[in-house]
Amino acid sequence: MTRDVNRRSTVLVVDFGAQYAQLIARRVREHRVHSQIVPHTISAADISARSPAAIILSGGPKSVHVDGAPRLDPAVYELGIPILGICYGAQLIAHQLGGEVGRGDQGEYGRTQMTRLADSTSTLLTADLPDVQQVWMSHFDAISQLPEGFTATASTPLAPVAILENPARRIWGVQYHPEVVHSPYGSAVLETFLHELSGCDATWTMGSVIDEQVESIRAQVGDRRAICGLSGGVDSSVAAALVHRAIGAQLTCVYVDTGLMRKGESEQVVETFRRNMGIELIHVDAGQQFFERLSGVTEPEAKRKVIGEVFVRIFEQHTGGVTDAEFLVQGTLYPDVIESGGSDGTASVIKSHHNVGGLPEDMTLKLVEPLRDLFKDEVRRVGLELGLPDEMVWRQPFPGPGLGVRIIGEVTPDKVATLQEADAIVRAEIASAGLEREIWQAFAVLPDIRSVGVMGDERTYGYPIIIRAVTSEDAMTADWARLPYDLLESMASRIISEVPGVNRVAYDITSKPPGTIEWE
Ligand code: XMP
Repeated sequence: MTRDVNRRSTVLVVDFGAQYAQLIARRVREHRVHSQIVPHTISAADISARSPAAIILSGGPKSVHVDGAPRLDPAVYELGIPILGICYGAQLIAHQLGGEVGRGDQGEYGRTQMTRLADSTSTLLTADLPDVQQVWMSHFDAISQLPEGFTATASTPLAPVAILENPARRIWGVQYHPEVVHSPYGSAVLETFLHELSGCDATWTMGSVIDEQVESIRAQVGDRRAICGLSGGVDSSVAAALVHRAIGAQLTCVYVDTGLMRKGESEQVVETFRRNMGIELIHVDAGQQFFERLSGVTEPEAKRKVIGEVFVRIFEQHTGGVTDAEFLVQGTLYPDVIESGGSDGTASVIKSHHNVGGLPEDMTLKLVEPLRDLFKDEVRRVGLELGLPDEMVWRQPFPGPGLGVRIIGEVTPDKVATLQEADAIVRAEIASAGLEREIWQAFAVLPDIRSVGVMGDERTYGYPIIIRAVTSEDAMTADWARLPYDLLESMASRIISEVPGVNRVAYDITSKPPGTIEWE
């Protein structure tokens, strides 16, 4: 894989501890240029060995003046590789190349007007862009003196040097954040840097990713066998489809149906993989075994543990038959790799805590991770290109323990059936309101209480359903979704009239923090 990656233009995004490094890397890829995030401790020799087409220095929370503020190996500036510094990255360029960064007494945060300097000619801020434009700022210090050979080409009220450039040395810096949507011309500036000033090829397309991965999976697996545990989620589905494209019948997929899946989900997995894609699929209908072991278990972590243990045992039983398999396919994504701190092969285990129960520790299979270099939106595009259905590619995140952690208290087949019906209504209503892509997750929760109601002339004593819908970028934080009242109304009335045993519906208006997205 490394060989393939090096064959094309790659931009290294040097991470100075900003929350923006991943966003910068994604933006670069949106311009069809491959990007990789590297730590700021990387040496010039390492950078040189990777022969990137360009380098972007990200923002960061520190001031260049404080002890221990991250630095770039100064030799990097001498490599002749085009460099763009963003925010802290721009200040670092000024600081390390002999300019000065002043410690202002007032920061500039949020939307700011940036003005092109009248007597300047900019190579970055091309002539077709307006002389005054909105940019997104987030800084306290500001560059007060340019390093030798640099010119300033734009300023804002509190940043006399909002853009600095030295085209002869191929080094540019912007104090603002071109990667965020609140800088409307930021994308144009990145485009100019990548394609005009650095000469990057626009070759990073999902078609090229598929071709390269197919080649590298074939090289890795040869004529041996691989197995893949499908969860019904986007990542494992796309990974399986990609590996199948590469090695066809040498791949066997195992789908352990825990009985805790959403309505219709298991049928869809079987239909898509076995019938439409012709993938060899072992479908293990294991609900009964999960329910038996879950009997009497009420505490959330105990449930997770039981579900995880049963899952691993069943997975092992059913892959045991594929005795000649040497490889296990996993849907590890690039953010998992970055967050575990290793982009060079150290991250193989991190996905396991997000799998249903983790994988056996003594596993001897070698991993095939064809999505290791991709962000989630790219995985979706690869999935569509491989012919996976929309519903599968755009599926919401779903916890490994499934509905088991959305049923408060003991999990029984009856409760699962009730929750499946209510949940299907919530999702169908969200879909028909056209809100599927705006909502991170929308689902139903079944609590362990009952309340009194009246239906027709009869008194009822039934379960409530709690609707949970959140917006989020990454599930680390989330906001409760402001669903229209009419939509809530139609969900509630459908749930009460269509799901037996439910007589009340509540909407959860807790954000994360303090709440979590799931109820257990
Ligand atoms: P919370 O509830 O912690 O969830 O706000 C954050 C995200 O993680 C998912 N989630 C899980 N995923 N196994 C998983 O694979 C789990 O045990 C689990 N618990 C929560 C949740 O759906 C949300 O997207």
